Amino acid sequence: MKILFVKIKRYNPELDDKPHWEDYRVEAEPTDRVLDVLLRIKWHQDGTLALRYSCAHGVCGSDAMRINGFNSLSCKVLVKTLESDTLTIEPMMALPVIKDLIVDMKPFFDSYKSVMPFLVNDDPPPTTERLQSQAERARYDDTTKCILCAACTTACPPFWHGQKYIGPAAIVNAHRFIFDSRDRGTGERLEIMNDVDGVWRCRKVFNCTGACPRGIQITKAIIEVQLALLTGSTEGGGTTRVVGGDRQRRAAPLTGTAEADGGIMPNA
Ligand code: SF4
Ligand code: FES
Repeated sequence: MKILFVKIKRYNPELDDKPHWEDYRVEAEPTDRVLDVLLRIKWHQDGTLALRYSCAHGVCGSDAMRINGFNSLSCKVLVKTLESDTLTIEPMMALPVIKDLIVDMKPFFDSYKSVMPFLVNDDPPPTTERLQSQAERARYDDTTKCILCAACTTACPPFWHGQKYIGPAAIVNAHRFIFDSRDRGTGERLEIMNDVDGVWRCRKVFNCTGACPRGIQITKAIIEVQLALLTGSTEGGGTTRVVGGDRQRRAAPLTGTAEADGGIMPNA
């Protein structure tokens, strides 16, 4: 058991003009999670502390926050992994704070919904399952793991500037269907990705990949979507699908130029 010095950024819009820091001393075991520390504060020191959590086991994605400057799930960070006895907790950046550590996820989910995160297939229903080879399934396996915690999107500098960028999480979830051999909405999704606030806003900072509690290779997925736009085709486990056809309209051709910081922007 040791004493942790915990600094939490607090904000109650009914009482405060702006956020402020409050300090707490908490006894913690090395095997405690940051979530345990926060709940100890809430239950024994200050019941007004507001935070969001549900499963407490890294599954639901509802307790993402900034822990010592890095986005993480509070239920996945153990006290013994902290580098000092001081713990700094803030809400995720760039989303409106509702209270204390709770942010308004609506802009995040609006971006998620905009990429059509569901299977599109207008083919006549088959009499059996829509079959897929193991290689075709493996093509998008990594991006099926997303739990929509927003740790990636709110760690992304282009998203911090006005929240116009669709964000890495939305691209991950577009990737999950763009590279699914059963899907017929690839052309529409690629058009959404090709928007001026779409996939080309990525600056390859890799903050998203480092923040993801599911270990998804987010920057790789973003680059694969960019390549699908540039080539007009997707490759899935040995299967090449040309983007075109009834629903799969070819993405608008790009005439962009490489920018000095490594990004490529479409000419709007
Ligand atoms: S890609 Fe990872 S960090 Fe981003 S929302 Fe999904 S699980 Fe969270
Ligand atoms: S509480 Fe569900 S992921 Fe942490």
